[in-house]
Amino acid sequence: MTETLIRVSGITKNFGVVRALAGVSLWVKEGEIYGLVGPDGAGKTTLIRLICGALRLQAGRISLCGFDVADETERAREQIGYLAQRSAVYEDLTVLENLKFFAEVRGLPKEEWAERCRWLLEFVGLAEFTGRRAGQLSGGMKQKLALAVALIHRPRVLLLDEPTTGVDPLTRLDFWRLIIRLVRGEKLTVLLSTPYMDEAARCTRVGFLHKGHLICEGTPRELRSRLAGRILELIGEPASLLIDLSRADRQVEDVQRFGNSLHLRVQEGQAEMVIRRLNEAIRKAGGRVHRLQLVEPLLEDVFIVLSEG
Ligand SMILES: Nc1ncnc2c1ncn2[C@@H]1O[C@H](COP(=O)(O)OP(=O)(O)O)[C@@H](O)[C@H]1O
Ligand SMILES: [Mg+2]
Repeated sequence: MTETLIRVSGITKNFGVVRALAGVSLWVKEGEIYGLVGPDGAGKTTLIRLICGALRLQAGRISLCGFDVADETERAREQIGYLAQRSAVYEDLTVLENLKFFAEVRGLPKEEWAERCRWLLEFVGLAEFTGRRAGQLSGGMKQKLALAVALIHRPRVLLLDEPTTGVDPLTRLDFWRLIIRLVRGEKLTVLLSTPYMDEAARCTRVGFLHKGHLICEGTPRELRSRLAGRILELIGEPASLLIDLSRADRQVEDVQRFGNSLHLRVQEGQAEMVIRRLNEAIRKAGGRVHRLQLVEPLLEDVFIVLSEG
């Protein structure tokens, strides 16, 4: 049977009068990549910091690999590698010095340092930069060093708070390859937060946090199926006319632009009717429709609906 490594039960966290988390429960099983998504201020960082034991709970319980975070904080902490939203590597230290420093802090036996550092540097692709000061690394390389640091003590659970925010798309892909190798090869379990829906789509399960509430959870496929039959893709010209006429249709609930196409969310069972009506309206107004049809919903479509609630 697969073990549940992270158990979060009914947790609440207030900062003064601000309720950052309100009765959140979730669990993550061994080998999963759980993605927390939600707008700024939703409570993602607070939740991750509570799981780390870096903040105190007002209500509820959290256990990590069976250790209660409040009562057995040290044992619980040993199980996790944590990559904070603002990564904490020492800019004045070299790549290798950073790793050794955290090896000591995390209590890795000294005779294991050399081998562990060598493996990690190879793994994240920094083997040729051991002597470079962290402050001289590019943003993506710094993030890889931070990942290596988070893994130094061989944690079972990896917590990543927006690990790829602000790094370029290629580095983001690179970073994801590493995460997937960690899960498949090293049997790590990952909980991460991300503002990117393409990243959420790569997770085993996704939880949507909104104003301190976990309002919905599921596999990416389950979440997308909620809007099956309700998303139309519209491509044509001119864009402003298409947007205006779509918005004017009473059965269209929402219009979003994705690159050169529009996604229209229509009411249940109204797709055919809207397609007919819009085709006609656009033509009458002198516009052109290149494509107007039902498509598979994206996670973006789902989260737009959830954010409206
Ligand atoms: N140390 C703090 N003191 C006061 N308020 C905080 C603190 N940390 C977070 N908050 C508030 O808690 C809410 C959730 O914040 P956060 O967990 O950082 O959200 P996210 O990571 O999803 O952007 C926000 O309203 C934020 O302003
Ligand atoms: Mg945050």
